[in-house]
Amino acid sequence: TQSFRLSRLSSWRVHVGLVSHSTVRPHQGAVVERIITHPLYSAQNHDYDVALLQLRTPLHFSYTVGAVCLPAEERDFPRGSECWVSGWGHTDPSHTRSSDLLQASVVPLLSTQLCNSSCVYNGALTPRMLCAGYLDGRSDAFQDSLPR
Ligand SMILES: *[C@@H]1O[C@H](CO)[C@@H](O)[C@H](O)[C@H]1NC(C)=O
Repeated sequence: TQSFRLSRLSSWRVHVGLVSHSTVRPHQGAVVERIITHPLYSAQNHDYDVALLQLRTPLHFSYTVGAVCLPAEERDFPRGSECWVSGWGHTDPSHTRSSDLLQASVVPLLSTQLCNSSCVYNGALTPRMLCAGYLDGRSDAFQDSLPR
């Protein structure tokens, strides 16, 4: 499905500065000129799951639109560090509801060793991945989160 969706460039729009899904006007988004996927991306295990979208016209930065800060390659993230996660994903464990408003939550970083163990991701983590949240299912990016 990945190559299929990426091949239809004209169906992509980038919407910025919004926190509510219902205010998205499909044709007002920024037009995507090119999608550059990571050459090592694996659809099987989601390794290198990152891509660049080149827009036809530049965005205007403002209070609500800006650049993300990327960490230096050698940056270490100790377990227990507080991380912000956000998204519009499911807001209940049975995955029947999702939120109209962007949700955000603080979760602790877990150790890779614990997260990659047989009781959690069972060897599925690659060195490009981080784990954050609560193993008791209390909250992840999209549950029990704080409205912004
Ligand atoms: C997770 O475990 C698998 C299987 O033992 C291993 O191949 C992989 O490198 C481990 N991931 C990390 C980030 O250590």
